[in-house]
Amino acid sequence: MLVLGLETSCDETGVALYDSEKGLLADALFSQIDLHRAYGGVVPELASRDHVKRMLPLIRQVLAEAGCVATEIDAIAYTAGPGLVGALLVGASCAQALAFAWGIPALGVHHMEGHLLAPMLEENPPQFPFVALLVSGGHTQLVRVDGIGEYELMGETLDDAAGEAFDKTAKMMGLHYPGGPEIARLASQGVPGRFVFPRPMTDRPGLDFSFSGLKTSALNTWQQRQSAGDDSEQTRCDISLAFQHAVVETLTIKCKRALKQAGLKRLVIAGGVSANKALRVSLEKMLGELHGNVFYARPEFCTDNGAMIAFAGCQRLQAGQKEELNISVQARWPMEQLSGL
Ligand code: KG4
Ligand code: ZN
Repeated sequence: MLVLGLETSCDETGVALYDSEKGLLADALFSQIDLHRAYGGVVPELASRDHVKRMLPLIRQVLAEAGCVATEIDAIAYTAGPGLVGALLVGASCAQALAFAWGIPALGVHHMEGHLLAPMLEENPPQFPFVALLVSGGHTQLVRVDGIGEYELMGETLDDAAGEAFDKTAKMMGLHYPGGPEIARLASQGVPGRFVFPRPMTDRPGLDFSFSGLKTSALNTWQQRQSAGDDSEQTRCDISLAFQHAVVETLTIKCKRALKQAGLKRLVIAGGVSANKALRVSLEKMLGELHGNVFYARPEFCTDNGAMIAFAGCQRLQAGQKEELNISVQARWPMEQLSGL
């Protein structure tokens, strides 16, 4: 089955062609980062307009790259939520219009299920069951995964998502959007131990997270340094390192707890923050001690992309899932509401 995947939930237009027999044939991405940078974050109206502009050229590009023609496509998968409604509607409308014209089915896919399954596009994919840490700009969740659509929420953030905390901390130090890669870059030049930030909610039982206090600690430290006349690049690097270290250690402690609670030794990390090298190193060390394994996607498939939507959609379409000609998206959509195959 050849599936065209369309991703438009936020600030990246992602398109890919996935074949159930041959694997990923082509994928293309247009990132709107430069468009939103001047505003320090995503402007929803601008995002929607840009998705409209990019979608058809990207579809033509992946078809050409894969050496396929439109008539070979068996189905279209698109992101139906969660995300920015205007942006989601671009992908949904485009998918349904093309599916109607080509006489093939279209299926709305859950964006976080896309992230969750993205590591399965790699060699040596994880086997079910496993614990998944989903860390993106909008989500921080620990989920027990027994199969596709069999998701049990074990813990989640009570306030900011991990990626959001990276982005806000970067913004207050005057760094570019998105802040995660910027903080990671500066952290590599940081002096360890100059600043130490809290590991929120690790001193009590449970698997929930809270990152807003950590972000405030970083803000207070930055403001104190500024008042003392120090807004040097080195201080930014040192704060970035301390912040990243606190997030990574907090996530590692909670993942270890979740694995123990679930009685499992397989951990999948997915979503934009799973591209963070320090996080991967820390989780690999922890899983090494447990004689377990950690799985993640290549960096470009950790952040938003069309390949994960094509792949997730293909699994569901192959299992016979279908949808009426109906353009409907959801800004909020708990993953536990999904059905199994
Ligand atoms: O999954 P994603 O592309 O979009 C959402 O679904 O939200 O995640 C984007 C988030 C942003 O907050 C970005 O700062 C963060 O992922 N991110 C990173 C890194 N790369 C992206 N955070 C930390 N380290 C990175 N290397
Ligand atoms: Zn995402």
